[in-house]
Amino acid sequence: MANNHKPDFSNVYEDTIRAESYATLTFDKTYYLAYRDLPRIISQYVSGKNALDFGCGTGRSTRFLKNLGFTTTGIDISEEMISIAQRLDPTGTYYRIDDGDFSVLSKSSFDLILSAFTFDNIPSMEHKISLLKGLSILLHSKGTIINLVSSPEIYTHEWASFTTKDFHENTYAKTGDIVRIITTDIPDKRPCDDIFITEEDYTTVYNSASLQILTKHKPLATGKEPYQWVNETHLAPWTIYVLKKKTT
Ligand SMILES: C[S@@+](CC[C@H](N)C(=O)[O-])C[C@H]1O[C@@H](n2cnc3c(N)ncnc32)[C@H](O)[C@@H]1O
Repeated sequence: MANNHKPDFSNVYEDTIRAESYATLTFDKTYYLAYRDLPRIISQYVSGKNALDFGCGTGRSTRFLKNLGFTTTGIDISEEMISIAQRLDPTGTYYRIDDGDFSVLSKSSFDLILSAFTFDNIPSMEHKISLLKGLSILLHSKGTIINLVSSPEIYTHEWASFTTKDFHENTYAKTGDIVRIITTDIPDKRPCDDIFITEEDYTTVYNSASLQILTKHKPLATGKEPYQWVNETHLAPWTIYVLKKKTT
């Protein structure tokens, strides 16, 4: 297992300008493909309506779950992000937590834990395993974790909503390395630092956290959507892992 913890890595979302900028993101263009298939996946793999949104950010993913009929709780380590989530959804339940501290939440209580793009910013495989083990404790025995992450390809191609062409070093990234990407849809054009991880190493992470992969989905555009796609019709920008606790 790679052990490439980068002590100099910091969560780029603990920043007011980035948080306000992120809050303007919707479900269109490249992000459309992240969310398009979630209702079908959820109806296929999730029973029950109590959902936790891990790394809820400004609450886009939490409100998405609410609109699907879930009772939702959003958690995030960034005060800047979560205060906007609460502002945009004043009746919603949101908690700012310290990294890995899930003590505010009840064990075995969630039917679904969604993590949308959060693991892109978790340094080291050990850290990912530790968080997934902690999340598993919150999951109902028959519950489902959906981990929606950036695909390795996102960092080396151009997209309707992202550019990476200025970051040639992304091409050589190994698991644990910092990769950079710019979201072109938002006013804040500063690059975002993510942590690269291969799909093979994600499989190791899930195994180590006693989770099994039920399915791995790579959403592609059909070409009929009203967007100017760049690579989205033949390369998937996202990977959606559907996970359950391993039965012993
Ligand atoms: C790219 S944003 C995604 C926000 C939201 N899920 C969405 O789809 O719009 C990633 C979020 O994960 C949060 N995050 C990063 N590390 C975290 C951790 N260890 N625990 C909880 N949240 C974390 C960041 O603060 C940030 O708000």
